[in-house]
Amino acid sequence: MSKTFCLIYLLAGLASLSATASCAKSTLFQGGTIITFDEASQLPVALRDSSLLVTGDSIVNIFGGSNDLTLPTDTEVVNVHGKIISPGFVDTHRHSWQTAYKTIGSNTTLAEYFSRYGEFTQAGTVFDPDDIYIGTLAGLYEPINAGVTTILEHAHGTFSSETSEAYLNAAMDSGVRMAFCYAFHELSNGFSFQEQLANFADLMKNERLNSEDLVQIGVAYDSFIQDNNNTEVVVDLINNNNVSALTTHFLSGPWSHANSPSKLDQLGLMNGTTPIVFSHASYVTNDDAELLRKYDQYISTTPESEMHYGHSHHYNPLIQDQSALGVDTHFTFSSDIVGQARMWLQSIRLRFFYQSLDNWKIPRNNPMSANQAFTLATRSGALAMRRADLGVLATGKKADIVAFDGDSPNMLGWSDPVAAIILHSNVGDVRHVMIGGEWRKRDGELVTKQNRTEVQNEFIESAKRIRKIWLDTPLPELQGEFNGLSHVDYVDAYTVDAVRGNGTGY
Ligand SMILES: *[C@@H]1O[C@H](CO)[C@@H](O)[C@H](O)[C@H]1NC(C)=O
Ligand SMILES: *[C@@H]1O[C@H](CO)[C@@H](O)[C@H](O)[C@H]1NC(C)=O
Ligand SMILES: *[C@@H]1O[C@H](CO)[C@@H](O)[C@H](O)[C@H]1NC(C)=O
Ligand SMILES: *[C@@H]1O[C@H](CO)[C@@H](O)[C@H](O)[C@H]1NC(C)=O
Ligand SMILES: *[C@@H]1O[C@H](CO)[C@@H](O)[C@H](O)[C@H]1NC(C)=O
Ligand SMILES: *[C@@H]1O[C@H](CO)[C@@H](O)[C@H](O)[C@H]1NC(C)=O
Ligand SMILES: [Zn+2]
Repeated sequence: MSKTFCLIYLLAGLASLSATASCAKSTLFQGGTIITFDEASQLPVALRDSSLLVTGDSIVNIFGGSNDLTLPTDTEVVNVHGKIISPGFVDTHRHSWQTAYKTIGSNTTLAEYFSRYGEFTQAGTVFDPDDIYIGTLAGLYEPINAGVTTILEHAHGTFSSETSEAYLNAAMDSGVRMAFCYAFHELSNGFSFQEQLANFADLMKNERLNSEDLVQIGVAYDSFIQDNNNTEVVVDLINNNNVSALTTHFLSGPWSHANSPSKLDQLGLMNGTTPIVFSHASYVTNDDAELLRKYDQYISTTPESEMHYGHSHHYNPLIQDQSALGVDTHFTFSSDIVGQARMWLQSIRLRFFYQSLDNWKIPRNNPMSANQAFTLATRSGALAMRRADLGVLATGKKADIVAFDGDSPNMLGWSDPVAAIILHSNVGDVRHVMIGGEWRKRDGELVTKQNRTEVQNEFIESAKRIRKIWLDTPLPELQGEFNGLSHVDYVDAYTVDAVRGNGTGY
């Protein structure tokens, strides 16, 4: 692919100097601590005082101390002494179009989300293509800034052909690596399933998509449980197209939204060549877990989302060997993957500590390690997308690289680089981010193709308009039964109050 790049750049740029240079561009990260991967133990391993050479979009060499390697001419040398070099992080579940809602759903619930913020609400008519474009682009700066280099986007802002195209353009303009999983859904705004199919076929032919390789098309679909014609068509579409991924929301128990591995197995999808990511998977059954393992398909655990909204963490912690991490609705909470890994690690520790404590016993060991959390945040995400070329730093892999400051007040004193990242780092420590060999963040500053001031201004205008409409819309009345497939009643959750007495704030 990088050869194709060269050719295109040369033809388009007519031998401009930078075009020639971009063909053989090399970068050396010199003299840092590099987190590589040990195949035997399947765990991250640190190489001290080492260097990493990138040429084109790939890692071509990792070597220790005083290697006399002859560097390619024009290699840019970046001194990373004292820094930690990590593989980029992978987010396997996100809805990037929703940035305009930021903070207005700070105490929302999942039932409220469905009728207020999700894809089947007034969003389908209120968000125009410019809103989707600018919200997605501004929204994607956040993960890139935090060292997220690959995203599996459950792209359900596909409200019209125009919004879908704008959405995809924003993804490509952001510079992130993405499986853009186009959502097919029954909308009430008039954009029919047939039109969605035509739109999808058009996007698959998109010239830019086919000439750049960071963004690839996938499919998102949440209605497998409805055995209607649309489901058949989606199944055929997956079987007959080489899509990069299929993703679906899968919740069970009282949520009863069962796009389960068992259901997809009945439909003949589990054993195919398309990677499938089941988001959340709360109340997953033993049969479903077995199917995930048998066909090597993954769940996306979105720790903060599942706590904030109440999808819950029932049973899904028991299949971490087929799990990766995700963020979900970034407008409601934090969205860097290291933060999600940390939250998950500590919540898993607590959960399994309770097994001992509830039996009045003292645990002598810790249920989960920082290495495990790091693996979920990097390699597992890549494997969920069947991208063995991502998620680890090794020769031949894609150059998706994050450099952490090792000397900040919070990082100072580290010896284990994985523990330093998982337990002590914050987004401010992310000094450099490279995706496919290109800088996306350099010396703590985002490197964007766009003028960020203009993007910010345009986004703020769009967000203001959208926010006003939502704040003027009364909250839904959640009475009687939850609008699910089974009969489940609403109930008031117990609320806590940080202030004593009557009439204090919620
Ligand atoms: C938080 O939830 C309460 C109760 O549903 C609601 O009255 C309040 O407006 C919400 N606050 C925000 C900021 O959404
Ligand atoms: C499904 O397709 C069949 C044949 O094309 C058609 O007869 C039937 O009405 C369709 N059903 C629905 C629910 O659209
Ligand atoms: C499917 O697409 C991937 C990635 O673009 C490519 O590597 C692979 O060869 C394709 N497979 C088929 C059967 O076309
Ligand atoms: C998957 O299984 C179904 C039947 O269970 C079979 O018809 C189909 O050919 C299988 N597909 C692959 C790719 O093995
Ligand atoms: C970015 O846009 C702002 C506002 O239009 C302008 O003032 C600034 O000069 C631009 N920056 C660059 C680098 O073009
Ligand atoms: C709190 O509210 C209850 C019921 O409205 C009332 O009876 C009681 O006097 C109030 N207490 C205080 C301290 O205001
Ligand atoms: Zn979601």
